[in-house]
Amino acid sequence: MKVYGFLKDVLGANRVTSARRKLIESGSPENIYKDHIKEVANELHPKATHVVVVKTEDVSPTARRFTFEACEGDKLPPFQAGQYCSLDLQIGETITTRPYSISSAPFEARTGEHPFFQLTVRNGKPDTGFASNWLYANVKEGDTFTAHLPFGEFYYEPLRDAKNVVALAGGSGITPFYSMAKEIEYGTLDMNLTILYGSVSTKDIILEKQLKAIKSDRVKFVNVISGEEDYAGEKGFLSRDIIKKYSKEDTTYFVCGPLPMYHFVRGELDALNVPARRIRMEVFGAPRDVTSAEGYPKDFEPKKFRLTVLRGIQEDVIEADSREPIMVALERAGIKNNSRCRSGACGFCRTELKEGDVFVAPEGDGRRRADRQFGYIHACSTWPLSDCTIRIPIL
Ligand SMILES: Cc1cc2nc3c(=O)[nH]c(=O)nc-3n(C[C@H](O)[C@H](O)[C@H](O)COP(=O)(O)OP(=O)(O)OC[C@H]3O[C@@H](n4cnc5c(N)ncnc54)[C@H](O)[C@@H]3O)c2cc1C
Ligand code: FES
Repeated sequence: MKVYGFLKDVLGANRVTSARRKLIESGSPENIYKDHIKEVANELHPKATHVVVVKTEDVSPTARRFTFEACEGDKLPPFQAGQYCSLDLQIGETITTRPYSISSAPFEARTGEHPFFQLTVRNGKPDTGFASNWLYANVKEGDTFTAHLPFGEFYYEPLRDAKNVVALAGGSGITPFYSMAKEIEYGTLDMNLTILYGSVSTKDIILEKQLKAIKSDRVKFVNVISGEEDYAGEKGFLSRDIIKKYSKEDTTYFVCGPLPMYHFVRGELDALNVPARRIRMEVFGAPRDVTSAEGYPKDFEPKKFRLTVLRGIQEDVIEADSREPIMVALERAGIKNNSRCRSGACGFCRTELKEGDVFVAPEGDGRRRADRQFGYIHACSTWPLSDCTIRIPIL
């Protein structure tokens, strides 16, 4: 550094300081640099969208469809037919979330005077259901929700999937296929869709009237009924014979429904030698009865454990039932944690397991290999087998 002499250097520094002060005073507290990439990302994937229920209607004796529009100031993000939305719910003391496939066409959320999307919720069994039963019984026009969408990879991708798609649906698993069928009807999805919809009884068929009203020769809808001997159409389960009958030479299979159906259909597709790249699966939630999941320790008696939850410097000890995922234990104790899919797939509920034995259901193990190795779990698809200690983020 060049030295000009003490006085010159001090005066020079003063000049720089006053110029700097002037610059700071003339500045604006607003950030003038726009991050356009971030803006686009936020529009495509907002952290949350506030929505209002504008219509409720029954679409079967046990299922209700809710139509949502964005609340003032919010905008519905674009999504693909087959993706899902996660709703934040407060039910009594419990703060929870539930994922629902969007059952309307993406086209309807991006056009028209009142863009909307729909969710169709099936009333669960009174003894086992919780959030869906609550929604079914309580939601009315004008109610507002915080929704997170879109999520999931259960959508048609022309570069990967065959032009002919056979959808194998069970129960409320029909909802993503109705969205696809509508999008085809609007002419904005280029594929041929045959929906094979397995139900025990004709009373269980959801969205039947709406599916039959679709005007497109690219959409075919077939009910397969297992519990009515005198049913005039296809009878039995979604067996290999029925699947074969409705398949073309090159077909991609989309499977959506409860776990037992998922296992059965997977076996039938394997028996037909369908390559794995032609099978797309969406599981509707973690197993209801974990004790019957593959690999669950034999003769393990149901038990309550101590779950130590670390958040920053806070430590809480709560109760965890061996029959419920760790996520439910947190929710029952009023401890907030992130969740979206609740089936082990999305990774939002990634949690550090510091101590303890747990069971992870194989079909809900969507963890990265490194996470498996270094003791991370997805709380929504992990059940305690001993006292445990976990660390979760502070929310
Ligand atoms: C991607 C995806 C899409 C889906 N799409 C649809 C759809 O379109 N339509 C549809 O109907 N379903 C859909 N589902 C399933 C849906 O998310 C629900 O899991 C299902 O409807 C059953 O909900 P439930 O709340 O009745 O039961 P569960 O979600 O199984 O909840 C019951 C569990 O809640 C817990 N619980 C009970 N009481 C409490 C309490 N007080 N506090 C905290 N926890 C408690 C218990 O562990 C109980 O076993 C989808 C699931 C996924 C993963
Ligand atoms: S909520 Fe998606 S993995 Fe747990």
